[in-house]
Amino acid sequence: MKLEGKVAVVTGAASGIGQATCLKLAEEGVAAIGAVDRSEGVREFARSLNDRFGRELLMPYSGDVVDGAFRERVFADIETKFDAVHICVPAAGITRDRLAVKLTNGSEPLRLDLYSEDEFRRVMDINLIAPIYWALRTVGSVALSRKRARLGPWVPDERVQGGIVLIGSVSKAGNRGQISYATAKAGLEGAQATLAIEAIFYGVRCAIIHPGFTDTPMVRSLGDDLIREQILPNTQLKRLIRPEEIAEAIVFMLRNSSVSGALWADAGWHPRG
Ligand SMILES: NC(=O)c1ccc[n+]([C@@H]2O[C@H](COP(=O)([O-])OP(=O)(O)OC[C@H]3O[C@@H](n4cnc5c(N)ncnc54)[C@H](O)[C@@H]3O)[C@@H](O)[C@H]2O)c1
Repeated sequence: MKLEGKVAVVTGAASGIGQATCLKLAEEGVAAIGAVDRSEGVREFARSLNDRFGRELLMPYSGDVVDGAFRERVFADIETKFDAVHICVPAAGITRDRLAVKLTNGSEPLRLDLYSEDEFRRVMDINLIAPIYWALRTVGSVALSRKRARLGPWVPDERVQGGIVLIGSVSKAGNRGQISYATAKAGLEGAQATLAIEAIFYGVRCAIIHPGFTDTPMVRSLGDDLIREQILPNTQLKRLIRPEEIAEAIVFMLRNSSVSGALWADAGWHPRG
């Protein structure tokens, strides 16, 4: 798919992988990017990127990706300026890591300390349900645009119309301390597989990337000792992946329509049991 002239929405755009993806998409010549993040930092990022490219390329929106009304406002605003949103990379995400089952130490009677259900739900809301709905709304945007243009079911001669890349993780295969995060990331695979079948009706492809440990604030928050002792030894490259390497892989997945399903960009990460 030619990315030139397409309109994209990227969530988690104020940091890490989302921010790097905005930059790569900009370099590919997309017409505009709705850059979504709850952090106000997204405005400063948009200002600096727009200055660099000399046009209003990034449109910043600050809000919570879980908020459906906010999502609708973002799409409505973009759709008043452009015909449709064609590309979605819903990268906003959080971790809330701890062991799933603990016993309180040294106190009688013994008490079970299970992973908090509230935390679990929050991780599902942000990492699983929200990315799926931003993706669905993108497919909807293309569907509405096709209807307005009186187009029927997509046919290959039209060429691919849009693309979605969900952000999975190596953790979806299981990772100590990540009961909620791993569940959410594994869940995205079901959504990807289903959307890949359904969305092509409108000419939209859907794939998922599974990054390994990438040098972003999310991973840096784990601390240098943990990164050095528990992460780097398990990678082939013996370093964290750079966000721009993941962004490049995402753009490749969007550009190359023969890519389907999942791409592992894990730098040889093999978690120990
Ligand atoms: N960094 C890694 O090693 C790694 C590996 C695999 C997958 N991922 C995934 O990549 C994606 C991006 O992660 P990152 O490492 O760049 O993290 P990051 O913490 O650098 O960036 C995440 C961004 O998402 C935003 N965000 C979080 N919750 C939000 C919400 N409710 N509404 C709006 N914005 C919200 C944050 O403000 C932040 O700017 C996430 O889905 C993460 O799970 C990261």
